[in-house]
Amino acid sequence: MKRALVTGAGSGIGAAVAQRLVAEGLDVVRADLRDPGEGGLILDVRDEAQVAPAMRDLDVLVNVAGIGATTTAPDTPLEVWDDVFAVNARGTFLCCKHAIPGMAARGGGSIVNVASVGALVGLRNRAAYCASKGAVVALTRALAVDHVDDGIRVNAVCPGTVDSPWVRRLVDESGESLEALRARQPMGRLGTTEEIADAVAYLVSAEFATGTILTIDGGLTTA
Ligand SMILES: NC(=O)c1ccc[n+]([C@@H]2O[C@H](COP(=O)([O-])OP(=O)(O)OC[C@H]3O[C@@H](n4cnc5c(N)ncnc54)[C@H](O)[C@@H]3O)[C@@H](O)[C@H]2O)c1
Repeated sequence: MKRALVTGAGSGIGAAVAQRLVAEGLDVVRADLRDPGEGGLILDVRDEAQVAPAMRDLDVLVNVAGIGATTTAPDTPLEVWDDVFAVNARGTFLCCKHAIPGMAARGGGSIVNVASVGALVGLRNRAAYCASKGAVVALTRALAVDHVDDGIRVNAVCPGTVDSPWVRRLVDESGESLEALRARQPMGRLGTTEEIADAVAYLVSAEFATGTILTIDGGLTTA
């Protein structure tokens, strides 16, 4: 049975990805900073000492853990910039760094990083977030070429706006309305966490795909 670890699995997209991979027959470790659910692993992806032992002996790694910040650059305190990069960029890097040697020793593996459409187009009031997700996309491509000979495939999904606890929080805290988020979508609706899990599951097992950046956004970046 293939062994997988999903970060950020306590909520939203990560929870849907973990459920989907279990349904596909993988042995899945759900990891999260808080509340990973029964049998899950409490893991802070920013902390190399916690990450290193958790990444041993994996066939599949899905990096979903992430945080946001809704400010322009002049309004972004340095600590906020650093926090966003610590989870989104450094956390993804650390998990990959420590998963790859074990995967290479097992003859291969599959890594899927969850980035964002914010890596591909400018989203208003999200300077640090967009930059950190751009780093995730660039890291995905760099790892894909470095580890192709190890049999390790590294791909990323760029979701558009998905109806998750995160987006519900954003609506509560920032005053952005769900209606406004829906209205900017060509399909007139937000994505579901299951629709992103579908894309992740595809890349986990797409044997000819590496370095692929798969946008799943209801047409947001096409309009
Ligand atoms: N919801 C969207 O519209 C959307 C769009 C594009 C990309 N994404 C990305 O998808 C991912 C998941 O988003 P979501 O909407 O499910 O959010 P969410 O807030 O519902 O879930 C994120 C999870 O990450 C965990 N987490 C945060 N910091 C962590 C850390 N240091 N170590 C381990 N876990 C940590 C949180 O505890 C939480 O359970 C994020 O990377 C986000 O940037 C979301």
